[in-house]
Amino acid sequence: MQDLDENTVTEAALAQMANTPDPRLKEIMDAAVRHLHAFARDVRLTPAEWLTGIQFLTAVGQACTPVRQEFILLADVLGVSALVNAMHDKKARELGTQSSLLGPFYREGAPELPLGASVAAHPTAPEIVVYGQVTDNDGKPIPHALVQVWQTSEFGLYDLQAENAAEMMDLRANFRTDADGRYHFRTVRPLGYSIPMDGPVGAMVHAQKRHGFRPSHIHFLIGGDGYRELVTALYFGDDEHIDSDTVFGVSGSLVVGAKDDPASPIPGRQAVHYDFRLAHAQPGETGRVGADPSKLMNAAE
Ligand code: BEZ
Ligand code: FE
Repeated sequence: MQDLDENTVTEAALAQMANTPDPRLKEIMDAAVRHLHAFARDVRLTPAEWLTGIQFLTAVGQACTPVRQEFILLADVLGVSALVNAMHDKKARELGTQSSLLGPFYREGAPELPLGASVAAHPTAPEIVVYGQVTDNDGKPIPHALVQVWQTSEFGLYDLQAENAAEMMDLRANFRTDADGRYHFRTVRPLGYSIPMDGPVGAMVHAQKRHGFRPSHIHFLIGGDGYRELVTALYFGDDEHIDSDTVFGVSGSLVVGAKDDPASPIPGRQAVHYDFRLAHAQPGETGRVGADPSKLMNAAE
């Protein structure tokens, strides 16, 4: 019988898992054990700290509901979601528009609205127009592409943060591009906002003396038959947090501004013009990075 110590316990744990039939599960769990053990040795983790960590993860799980995904938020503020996104993009043979985080506020089943409609049910700020074209990488238009958009209000809140969140949808809609791959819609300029700070992840962000804000942005999830699904967002460049996004979602190529634009399909309002490029899908490509929170709850039941 082997005497276990702080080094040999790692090999013992790996040996017990050695017959895992699924090779990918084995690879992931082997690496998880090796890195977790190395982490505990590295910081000389004490029993009290280990329990604090267990309590923290328990609280993260308890904070999850069908409309709130605290684990995704944790991955976001640690930069893990951005890392997975970046690796997913790098693996693609062809890259279109740069991706960004799906975030915890995406929701399936938003109303499909005609081009030109407003996504804001009760706007109290001047409307802006967002318009452009969805093409492939060679500039060929993609007609009837599904363009899903969601954003915060002019007050910096998603519909999912309202008390009656489960029943109502606002500031989100699905559009279909026209025969030339063009889209346009009206909205209000979203306000940059703090990530949800009233849970365990917010407490951690506070403890790290971080501001917790995301710069103003509009999310897009764009899909077309035969194309790689694009999860991205457009960020307003004049937001004070444009260079310090708490969840590391901003890239220079996604930064926009609303301005007077004679080419806008709806005159008289400031406009954001952005053309999206979709890459051709490769066989067997894996899905998007992120999910509707209610779908994750159901999967766990
Ligand atoms: C968002 O953009 O909606 C978001 C992303 C990550 C964490 C919190 C919010
Ligand atoms: Fe967002």
